[in-house]
Amino acid sequence: MVILMSLKNQRFGQGLLESLYKPENSDLLSQLNERRYKKRHILFMPHSKEDLVFIVKEGKLRVYLGLDGKELSLVLLGPGDIYTSHTRAYVVAMEDSVVLTCPVFKFYTLATKNQGFSLPLFMSLGKLLSGSISLIENLYFYDIDKRVAAYFYEEALVHGDETDDGLLVHVGLTVDNIATIVGSSRQTVSSLISGMEKDGILKKVARGEYLVKNMDELKYLAHPCPE
Ligand code: HEM
Repeated sequence: MVILMSLKNQRFGQGLLESLYKPENSDLLSQLNERRYKKRHILFMPHSKEDLVFIVKEGKLRVYLGLDGKELSLVLLGPGDIYTSHTRAYVVAMEDSVVLTCPVFKFYTLATKNQGFSLPLFMSLGKLLSGSISLIENLYFYDIDKRVAAYFYEEALVHGDETDDGLLVHVGLTVDNIATIVGSSRQTVSSLISGMEKDGILKKVARGEYLVKNMDELKYLAHPCPE
């Protein structure tokens, strides 16, 4: 439990990138190909012909399911996050991004050989799984207002930087983008953010940047049931 807590306090994904650049993993790194994508580029379509594992080096990607013009965001990937091309989801660049790719079976062989790589790899996969459970929980149990609060709460928990006034979160997304992620409209999300600002829970400080002033209240809004 103690180990899990201290590991949780590390930036999960960053651990994977750091590990990749360690001298003992140089054979793995040498097999990865760097690919650069411009904002809005769709990297992979469902069940893409290329069977690749990729690790995000820079930027932000959105993984989503799409049907008949409707979209459901599954996860946002940032530096150090790992994903693959062989799922039924689309992967799109939300900003200019760089990914390190490797054919699936080559990756499997190399990753299992490099002992030190397993822990950050499992941590990164665990983060992905945790995000999927949160998504199902939010969609099934919570209304849109809770989903918006949960989005900010989880961003602050994982990526927030402590300041004297609260946790500073660089979400790097427009309100429109956030609406797509939580499955709502820009107007609804905008008015929910205004409500939280009025209640002193968070404050927009710059484009895509928010200060969470009251993490306890935000947590309560996001997950009102006692744990
Ligand atoms: C080590 C290399 C990997 C191997 C050998 C592997 C193998 C497979 C296989 C055999 C399937 C079933 C495909 C099918 O039903 O047609 C699958 C599905 C899947 N894999 Fe992987 N995989 C690897 C890496 C990854 C990684 C790194 C991720 C994500 C982080 C991932 C996520 C998934 C998901 C989400 C599915 C289900 C796809 C869907 O039903 O839409 N895999 N994988």
